[in-house]
Amino acid sequence: MKLTVVGGGSTYTPELIDGFARLRDTLPVEELVLVDPDAERLELVGGLARRIFAKQGHGGRIVTTADLDAGIDGADAVLLQLRVGGQAARRQDETWPLECGCVGQETTGAGGLAKALRTVPVVLDIAERVRRSNPRAWIIDFTNPVGIVTRALLHAGHRAVGLCNVAIGLQRKFADRLGVTPQDVHLAHVGLNHLTWETAVRLGGPEGENVLPKLLAEHGDAIADDLRLPRALLDRLGVVPSYYLRYFYAHDEVVRELRTKPSRAEEVARMERELLAMYGDPTLDEKPALLAERGGAYYSEAAVDLAAALLRGRGSPYQVVNTLNKGTLPFLADDAVIEVQAAVGPAGPAPLPVPEVDPLYAGLIANVTAYEELALEAALRGGRDRVFRALLAHPLIGEYEYAETLTDRLIAHNREHLAWA
Ligand code: G6P
Ligand code: MN
Repeated sequence: MKLTVVGGGSTYTPELIDGFARLRDTLPVEELVLVDPDAERLELVGGLARRIFAKQGHGGRIVTTADLDAGIDGADAVLLQLRVGGQAARRQDETWPLECGCVGQETTGAGGLAKALRTVPVVLDIAERVRRSNPRAWIIDFTNPVGIVTRALLHAGHRAVGLCNVAIGLQRKFADRLGVTPQDVHLAHVGLNHLTWETAVRLGGPEGENVLPKLLAEHGDAIADDLRLPRALLDRLGVVPSYYLRYFYAHDEVVRELRTKPSRAEEVARMERELLAMYGDPTLDEKPALLAERGGAYYSEAAVDLAAALLRGRGSPYQVVNTLNKGTLPFLADDAVIEVQAAVGPAGPAPLPVPEVDPLYAGLIANVTAYEELALEAALRGGRDRVFRALLAHPLIGEYEYAETLTDRLIAHNREHLAWA
Protein backbone atom coordinates (compact mmCIF):
# COMPACT_ATOMS: atom_id res chain seq x y z
CA MET A 1 0.00 0.00 0.00
CA LYS A 2 1.32 3.41 -0.98
CA LEU A 3 0.19 6.59 0.73
CA THR A 4 1.23 10.10 -0.21
CA VAL A 5 1.08 13.18 1.98
CA VAL A 6 1.01 16.46 0.05
CA GLY A 7 2.35 19.10 2.40
CA GLY A 8 4.47 16.36 3.98
CA GLY A 9 7.02 18.93 5.17
CA SER A 10 4.45 20.26 7.65
CA THR A 11 5.58 20.32 11.27
CA TYR A 12 2.40 18.31 11.92
CA THR A 13 3.71 15.31 9.95
CA PRO A 14 5.41 13.52 12.89
CA GLU A 15 1.95 13.29 14.49
CA LEU A 16 0.76 11.49 11.39
CA ILE A 17 3.83 9.24 11.27
CA ASP A 18 3.34 8.33 14.90
CA GLY A 19 -0.22 7.30 14.08
CA PHE A 20 0.87 5.20 11.09
CA ALA A 21 3.51 3.53 13.25
CA ARG A 22 1.23 2.78 16.22
CA LEU A 23 -1.74 1.69 14.13
CA ARG A 24 0.14 -0.32 11.51
CA ASP A 25 -2.00 -3.41 12.02
CA THR A 26 -5.08 -1.46 11.03
CA LEU A 27 -3.33 0.17 8.08
CA PRO A 28 -0.16 -1.53 6.87
CA VAL A 29 1.57 1.16 4.81
CA GLU A 30 4.48 -0.12 2.73
CA GLU A 31 5.49 3.17 1.22
CA LEU A 32 4.81 6.61 2.62
CA VAL A 33 5.72 9.54 0.42
CA LEU A 34 6.10 13.05 1.81
CA VAL A 35 5.76 15.67 -0.93
CA ASP A 36 6.73 19.27 -0.24
CA PRO A 37 8.31 22.12 -2.19
CA ASP A 38 10.43 23.11 0.85
CA ALA A 39 13.56 20.93 0.69
CA GLU A 40 14.87 21.96 4.09
CA ARG A 41 11.67 21.10 5.94
CA LEU A 42 11.36 17.89 4.01
CA GLU A 43 14.80 16.79 5.12
CA LEU A 44 14.14 17.59 8.79
CA VAL A 45 10.65 16.11 8.88
CA GLY A 46 11.63 13.13 6.71
CA GLY A 47 14.59 12.35 8.95
CA LEU A 48 12.47 12.30 12.08
CA ALA A 49 9.76 10.30 10.29
CA ARG A 50 12.30 7.57 9.44
CA ARG A 51 13.57 7.50 13.03
CA ILE A 52 10.02 7.16 14.37
CA PHE A 53 9.32 4.24 12.01
CA ALA A 54 12.65 2.60 12.91
CA LYS A 55 12.12 2.98 16.64
CA GLN A 56 8.65 1.49 16.47
CA GLY A 57 9.82 -1.35 14.25
CA HIS A 58 7.76 -0.26 11.23
CA GLY A 59 9.24 -1.78 8.09
CA GLY A 60 7.60 0.76 5.71
CA ARG A 61 9.69 2.94 3.44
CA ILE A 62 9.56 6.72 3.79
CA VAL A 63 10.30 8.67 0.62
CA THR A 64 10.63 12.45 0.42
CA THR A 65 10.30 14.42 -2.80
CA ALA A 66 9.51 17.85 -4.18
CA ASP A 67 8.13 16.22 -7.34
CA LEU A 68 4.35 16.07 -6.93
CA ASP A 69 3.68 13.79 -9.92
CA ALA A 70 6.35 11.30 -8.88
CA GLY A 71 5.06 11.41 -5.31
CA ILE A 72 1.44 10.66 -6.15
CA ASP A 73 2.22 8.11 -8.86
CA GLY A 74 0.42 4.87 -8.04
CA ALA A 75 -0.67 6.02 -4.57
CA ASP A 76 -3.72 4.28 -3.11
CA ALA A 77 -4.58 7.36 -1.07
CA VAL A 78 -3.36 10.94 -1.08
CA LEU A 79 -3.62 13.08 2.04
CA LEU A 80 -3.76 16.80 1.46
CA GLN A 81 -2.45 18.98 4.28
CA LEU A 82 -0.99 21.94 2.48
CA ARG A 83 -1.09 25.61 3.31
CA VAL A 84 -0.85 27.98 0.35
CA GLY A 85 1.21 30.99 1.39
CA GLY A 86 2.28 29.40 4.68
CA GLN A 87 1.88 31.01 8.10
CA ALA A 88 2.57 34.43 6.54
CA ALA A 89 -0.67 34.26 4.55
CA ARG A 90 -2.49 32.91 7.59
CA ARG A 91 -1.30 35.87 9.61
CA GLN A 92 -2.90 38.17 7.08
CA ASP A 93 -6.18 36.22 7.24
CA GLU A 94 -6.15 36.65 10.99
CA THR A 95 -5.36 40.35 10.92
CA TRP A 96 -7.10 42.51 8.30
CA PRO A 97 -10.68 41.41 9.11
CA LEU A 98 -10.12 42.73 12.65
CA GLU A 99 -9.60 46.21 11.23
CA CYS A 100 -13.28 46.10 10.24
CA GLY A 101 -14.41 44.70 13.59
CA CYS A 102 -14.84 41.23 12.13
CA VAL A 103 -13.30 38.05 13.45
CA GLY A 104 -9.83 37.25 12.08
CA GLN A 105 -9.59 33.49 11.73
CA GLU A 106 -8.18 31.16 9.13
CA THR A 107 -11.37 29.21 8.47
CA THR A 108 -14.23 31.37 9.77
CA GLY A 109 -15.36 34.64 8.23
CA ALA A 110 -13.43 36.75 5.72
CA GLY A 111 -10.07 35.14 6.54
CA GLY A 112 -11.54 31.74 5.77
CA LEU A 113 -12.77 33.02 2.42
CA ALA A 114 -9.29 34.33 1.61
CA LYS A 115 -7.84 30.92 2.44
CA ALA A 116 -10.45 29.19 0.27
CA LEU A 117 -9.66 31.45 -2.69
CA ARG A 118 -5.95 30.73 -2.42
CA THR A 119 -6.39 27.02 -1.84
CA VAL A 120 -9.18 25.65 -4.05
CA PRO A 121 -7.36 26.06 -7.42
CA VAL A 122 -4.19 24.46 -6.03
CA VAL A 123 -6.07 21.50 -4.54
CA LEU A 124 -8.09 20.93 -7.72
CA ASP A 125 -4.91 20.86 -9.78
CA ILE A 126 -3.38 18.26 -7.45
CA ALA A 127 -6.59 16.20 -7.52
CA GLU A 128 -6.59 16.16 -11.35
CA ARG A 129 -3.05 14.80 -11.30
CA VAL A 130 -4.04 12.16 -8.76
CA ARG A 131 -6.97 11.10 -10.94
CA ARG A 132 -4.79 10.87 -14.05
CA SER A 133 -2.28 8.73 -12.20
CA ASN A 134 -4.75 6.44 -10.41
CA PRO A 135 -8.50 7.01 -10.92
CA ARG A 136 -9.21 4.68 -7.97
CA ALA A 137 -7.09 6.64 -5.48
CA TRP A 138 -8.85 8.23 -2.51
CA ILE A 139 -8.16 11.83 -1.60
CA ILE A 140 -8.34 12.63 2.11
CA ASP A 141 -8.52 16.35 2.61
CA PHE A 142 -7.32 18.02 5.80
CA THR A 143 -6.59 21.23 3.97
CA ASN A 144 -8.67 24.08 5.30
CA PRO A 145 -11.25 25.37 4.88
CA VAL A 146 -12.20 21.69 4.73
CA GLY A 147 -15.91 22.26 3.96
CA ILE A 148 -15.28 24.43 0.90
CA VAL A 149 -12.27 22.46 -0.32
CA THR A 150 -14.18 19.17 -0.04
CA ARG A 151 -17.11 20.73 -1.86
CA ALA A 152 -14.74 21.76 -4.66
CA LEU A 153 -13.31 18.24 -4.87
CA LEU A 154 -16.65 16.44 -4.81
CA HIS A 155 -18.30 18.77 -7.31
CA ALA A 156 -15.39 18.08 -9.66
CA GLY A 157 -16.16 14.37 -9.31
CA HIS A 158 -13.12 13.34 -7.28
CA ARG A 159 -13.05 10.40 -4.87
CA ALA A 160 -12.56 12.60 -1.85
CA VAL A 161 -13.47 12.78 1.83
CA GLY A 162 -12.91 15.81 4.06
CA LEU A 163 -11.52 15.30 7.54
CA CYS A 164 -11.17 17.38 10.70
CA ASN A 165 -10.04 16.47 14.21
CA VAL A 166 -12.70 18.37 16.19
CA ALA A 167 -15.02 15.36 16.60
CA ILE A 168 -12.30 12.86 17.44
CA GLY A 169 -10.89 15.37 19.95
CA LEU A 170 -14.26 15.69 21.69
CA GLN A 171 -14.76 11.93 21.61
CA ARG A 172 -11.42 11.49 23.45
CA LYS A 173 -12.22 14.20 26.00
CA PHE A 174 -15.72 12.90 26.72
CA ALA A 175 -14.39 9.34 27.04
CA ASP A 176 -11.89 10.55 29.62
CA ARG A 177 -14.55 12.35 31.61
CA LEU A 178 -16.89 9.37 31.46
CA GLY A 179 -14.16 6.88 32.30
CA VAL A 180 -14.77 4.76 29.19
CA THR A 181 -12.66 4.03 26.10
CA PRO A 182 -12.96 6.41 23.12
CA GLN A 183 -14.32 3.56 20.95
CA ASP A 184 -17.28 3.34 23.34
CA VAL A 185 -18.26 6.96 22.73
CA HIS A 186 -20.48 7.66 19.73
CA LEU A 187 -21.20 11.32 19.05
CA ALA A 188 -24.35 12.52 17.33
CA HIS A 189 -22.46 15.18 15.41
CA VAL A 190 -24.23 17.56 13.06
CA GLY A 191 -23.39 20.58 10.95
CA LEU A 192 -20.66 21.78 8.62
CA ASN A 193 -16.91 21.67 9.10
CA HIS A 194 -16.03 24.01 11.98
CA LEU A 195 -19.75 24.64 12.56
CA THR A 196 -20.96 21.60 14.47
CA TRP A 197 -22.89 20.57 17.53
CA GLU A 198 -22.83 17.33 19.50
CA THR A 199 -26.52 16.72 20.06
CA ALA A 200 -26.08 13.40 21.87
CA VAL A 201 -23.24 11.36 23.33
CA ARG A 202 -24.09 7.68 23.10
CA LEU A 203 -22.38 4.73 24.70
CA GLY A 204 -21.54 1.74 22.54
CA GLY A 205 -22.86 2.95 19.21
CA PRO A 206 -25.48 5.02 17.37
CA GLU A 207 -28.33 3.32 19.26
CA GLY A 208 -26.65 3.41 22.70
CA GLU A 209 -27.77 5.29 25.81
CA ASN A 210 -27.49 9.09 25.54
CA VAL A 211 -25.26 10.26 28.38
CA LEU A 212 -25.00 13.89 27.24
CA PRO A 213 -27.36 15.19 29.96
CA LYS A 214 -25.29 13.39 32.58
CA LEU A 215 -22.04 14.64 31.04
CA LEU A 216 -23.30 18.23 31.13
CA ALA A 217 -24.63 17.89 34.67
CA GLU A 218 -21.39 16.44 36.02
CA HIS A 219 -18.75 18.11 33.84
CA GLY A 220 -20.52 21.16 32.45
CA ASP A 221 -18.08 23.64 34.01
CA ALA A 222 -15.03 21.90 32.57
CA ILE A 223 -16.63 21.56 29.13
CA ALA A 224 -17.64 25.23 29.17
CA ASP A 225 -14.09 26.21 30.20
CA ASP A 226 -12.63 24.26 27.27
CA LEU A 227 -14.98 26.03 24.88
CA ARG A 228 -14.57 29.38 26.62
CA LEU A 229 -18.33 29.81 26.63
CA PRO A 230 -20.55 30.29 29.70
CA ARG A 231 -21.79 27.16 31.41
CA ALA A 232 -25.27 28.69 31.47
CA LEU A 233 -25.29 28.80 27.67
CA LEU A 234 -24.46 25.09 27.43
CA ASP A 235 -27.20 24.27 29.91
CA ARG A 236 -29.72 26.27 27.91
CA LEU A 237 -28.70 24.68 24.61
CA GLY A 238 -28.43 21.19 26.04
CA VAL A 239 -25.89 20.33 23.33
CA VAL A 240 -22.14 20.87 23.01
CA PRO A 241 -21.10 23.26 20.25
CA SER A 242 -17.61 23.00 18.75
CA TYR A 243 -15.15 25.66 19.87
CA TYR A 244 -15.52 27.30 16.46
CA LEU A 245 -19.06 28.31 17.47
CA ARG A 246 -17.47 30.77 19.87
CA TYR A 247 -16.71 32.93 16.81
CA PHE A 248 -20.48 33.20 16.40
CA TYR A 249 -21.86 33.07 19.93
CA ALA A 250 -19.23 35.46 21.33
CA HIS A 251 -18.13 37.25 18.17
CA ASP A 252 -17.50 40.72 19.56
CA GLU A 253 -15.77 39.40 22.65
CA VAL A 254 -13.45 37.32 20.43
CA VAL A 255 -12.70 40.34 18.23
CA ARG A 256 -11.75 42.38 21.31
CA GLU A 257 -9.45 39.60 22.49
CA LEU A 258 -7.82 39.04 19.12
CA ARG A 259 -7.06 42.72 18.82
CA THR A 260 -4.93 42.67 21.94
CA LYS A 261 -2.73 39.66 21.36
CA PRO A 262 -0.38 38.26 18.71
CA SER A 263 -2.09 36.27 15.99
CA ARG A 264 -2.26 32.48 16.18
CA ALA A 265 -0.10 32.42 13.03
CA GLU A 266 2.69 34.20 14.89
CA GLU A 267 2.37 31.80 17.80
CA VAL A 268 2.41 28.82 15.45
CA ALA A 269 5.38 30.22 13.49
CA ARG A 270 7.32 30.44 16.76
CA MET A 271 6.37 26.88 17.67
CA GLU A 272 7.32 25.71 14.19
CA ARG A 273 10.81 27.16 14.51
CA GLU A 274 11.21 25.32 17.79
CA LEU A 275 9.79 22.10 16.39
CA LEU A 276 12.02 22.16 13.31
CA ALA A 277 15.08 22.69 15.51
CA MET A 278 14.04 19.62 17.52
CA TYR A 279 13.40 17.56 14.38
CA GLY A 280 17.00 18.26 13.32
CA ASP A 281 18.30 16.48 16.43
CA PRO A 282 19.38 13.02 15.21
CA THR A 283 18.70 11.50 18.65
CA LEU A 284 15.02 12.48 18.62
CA ASP A 285 12.96 9.46 17.58
CA GLU A 286 9.43 10.27 18.74
CA LYS A 287 6.97 13.11 18.28
CA PRO A 288 7.85 15.90 20.72
CA ALA A 289 5.37 16.94 23.42
CA LEU A 290 5.29 20.49 22.03
CA LEU A 291 3.35 19.17 19.05
CA ALA A 292 0.39 18.60 21.37
CA GLU A 293 0.02 22.39 21.63
CA ARG A 294 -1.02 22.52 18.00
CA GLY A 295 -4.71 22.36 17.17
CA GLY A 296 -4.45 19.10 15.24
CA ALA A 297 -4.27 16.66 18.16
CA TYR A 298 -5.49 13.14 17.21
CA TYR A 299 -5.69 13.93 13.53
CA SER A 300 -3.35 11.02 12.83
CA GLU A 301 -5.83 8.63 14.40
CA ALA A 302 -8.70 10.05 12.41
CA ALA A 303 -6.61 9.78 9.24
CA VAL A 304 -5.52 6.20 9.85
CA ASP A 305 -9.08 5.21 10.70
CA LEU A 306 -10.45 6.81 7.56
CA ALA A 307 -7.76 5.44 5.23
CA ALA A 308 -8.18 1.97 6.75
CA ALA A 309 -11.95 2.10 6.16
CA LEU A 310 -11.66 3.39 2.59
CA LEU A 311 -8.80 1.16 1.50
CA ARG A 312 -9.34 -2.03 3.49
CA GLY A 313 -12.86 -1.93 4.91
CA ARG A 314 -11.33 -1.78 8.41
CA GLY A 315 -11.08 0.88 11.13
CA SER A 316 -14.02 2.23 13.11
CA PRO A 317 -17.39 1.43 11.55
CA TYR A 318 -18.66 5.00 11.97
CA GLN A 319 -16.56 8.10 11.46
CA VAL A 320 -17.21 11.82 11.33
CA VAL A 321 -16.42 13.02 7.83
CA ASN A 322 -17.20 15.78 5.35
CA THR A 323 -19.24 14.41 2.50
CA LEU A 324 -22.20 15.19 0.22
CA ASN A 325 -25.49 15.84 2.00
CA LYS A 326 -27.69 13.78 -0.38
CA GLY A 327 -30.81 14.29 1.69
CA THR A 328 -29.26 13.73 5.12
CA LEU A 329 -30.17 17.26 6.21
CA PRO A 330 -33.44 17.87 4.33
CA PHE A 331 -33.13 21.66 4.60
CA LEU A 332 -29.95 21.66 2.48
CA ALA A 333 -29.38 20.88 -1.18
CA ASP A 334 -28.17 17.38 -1.98
CA ASP A 335 -24.84 18.71 -3.23
CA ALA A 336 -24.00 20.61 -0.04
CA VAL A 337 -21.08 19.23 1.96
CA ILE A 338 -21.91 18.39 5.56
CA GLU A 339 -19.94 17.06 8.52
CA VAL A 340 -21.70 14.10 10.12
CA GLN A 341 -21.24 10.53 11.26
CA ALA A 342 -21.03 8.13 8.36
CA ALA A 343 -20.56 4.44 7.82
CA VAL A 344 -17.32 4.34 5.88
CA GLY A 345 -16.13 1.51 3.65
CA PRO A 346 -14.43 0.97 0.29
CA ALA A 347 -17.44 2.53 -1.46
CA GLY A 348 -16.93 5.76 0.51
CA PRO A 349 -18.93 7.37 3.33
CA ALA A 350 -22.67 6.82 3.75
CA PRO A 351 -24.06 9.34 6.28
CA LEU A 352 -26.11 7.91 9.13
CA PRO A 353 -29.63 9.32 9.42
CA VAL A 354 -29.75 12.54 11.45
CA PRO A 355 -32.77 13.32 13.66
CA GLU A 356 -34.56 16.58 12.92
CA VAL A 357 -32.22 19.51 13.59
CA ASP A 358 -33.40 22.28 15.95
CA PRO A 359 -34.01 25.51 13.94
CA LEU A 360 -31.55 27.17 16.30
CA TYR A 361 -28.79 25.26 14.49
CA ALA A 362 -30.46 24.51 11.17
CA GLY A 363 -30.76 28.23 10.38
CA LEU A 364 -27.07 28.88 10.87
CA ILE A 365 -26.11 25.70 9.01
CA ALA A 366 -28.23 26.76 6.04
CA ASN A 367 -26.84 30.28 6.10
CA VAL A 368 -23.22 29.13 6.17
CA THR A 369 -23.94 26.54 3.47
CA ALA A 370 -25.14 29.36 1.20
CA TYR A 371 -21.94 31.25 2.00
CA GLU A 372 -19.89 28.14 1.15
CA GLU A 373 -21.67 27.80 -2.19
CA LEU A 374 -20.86 31.43 -3.03
CA ALA A 375 -17.32 31.06 -1.69
CA LEU A 376 -16.70 28.14 -4.03
CA GLU A 377 -18.10 30.17 -6.95
CA ALA A 378 -15.65 32.94 -6.10
CA ALA A 379 -12.75 30.49 -5.74
CA LEU A 380 -13.49 28.81 -9.08
CA ARG A 381 -14.39 31.82 -11.19
CA GLY A 382 -12.79 34.78 -9.44
CA GLY A 383 -13.89 38.39 -9.70
CA ARG A 384 -14.53 41.13 -7.18
CA ASP A 385 -18.30 40.75 -7.32
CA ARG A 386 -18.21 37.06 -6.45
CA VAL A 387 -15.99 37.78 -3.46
CA PHE A 388 -18.41 40.49 -2.35
CA ARG A 389 -21.43 38.18 -2.68
CA ALA A 390 -19.78 35.51 -0.53
CA LEU A 391 -18.86 38.03 2.16
CA LEU A 392 -22.29 39.64 2.15
CA ALA A 393 -23.83 36.17 2.61
CA HIS A 394 -21.65 35.33 5.59
CA PRO A 395 -23.66 35.56 8.83
CA LEU A 396 -20.73 37.24 10.62
CA ILE A 397 -20.51 39.99 7.97
CA GLY A 398 -23.85 40.67 6.32
CA GLU A 399 -23.63 44.47 6.03
CA TYR A 400 -22.74 45.82 2.59
CA GLU A 401 -20.24 48.38 3.87
CA TYR A 402 -18.26 45.73 5.69
CA ALA A 403 -18.52 43.41 2.72
CA GLU A 404 -17.18 46.15 0.38
CA THR A 405 -14.22 46.99 2.58
CA LEU A 406 -13.40 43.38 3.32
CA THR A 407 -13.55 42.54 -0.39
CA ASP A 408 -10.96 45.21 -1.16
CA ARG A 409 -8.72 44.09 1.67
CA LEU A 410 -8.99 40.43 0.82
CA ILE A 411 -7.96 41.09 -2.77
CA ALA A 412 -5.17 43.51 -1.82
CA HIS A 413 -3.64 41.04 0.65
CA ASN A 414 -3.89 38.02 -1.65
CA ARG A 415 -3.12 39.35 -5.11
CA GLU A 416 -0.03 37.19 -5.56
CA HIS A 417 -2.11 34.05 -4.93
CA LEU A 418 -5.14 34.93 -7.09
CA ALA A 419 -4.69 34.35 -10.80
CA TRP A 420 -7.61 36.68 -11.66
CA ALA A 421 -6.75 39.62 -9.37
C1 G6P B 1 -7.84 22.30 14.62
C2 G6P B 1 -8.69 22.33 13.42
C3 G6P B 1 -7.84 22.39 12.17
C4 G6P B 1 -6.91 23.57 12.26
C5 G6P B 1 -6.09 23.49 13.51
C6 G6P B 1 -5.26 24.73 13.70
O1 G6P B 1 -7.16 21.12 14.62
O2 G6P B 1 -9.54 21.23 13.32
O3 G6P B 1 -8.70 22.49 11.08
O4 G6P B 1 -6.06 23.57 11.15
O5 G6P B 1 -6.92 23.37 14.63
O6 G6P B 1 -4.25 24.41 14.58
P1 G6P B 1 -3.03 25.41 14.78
O7 G6P B 1 -2.18 24.76 15.81
O8 G6P B 1 -2.35 25.54 13.43
O9 G6P B 1 -3.62 26.69 15.24
MN1 MN C 1 -10.49 21.27 11.36
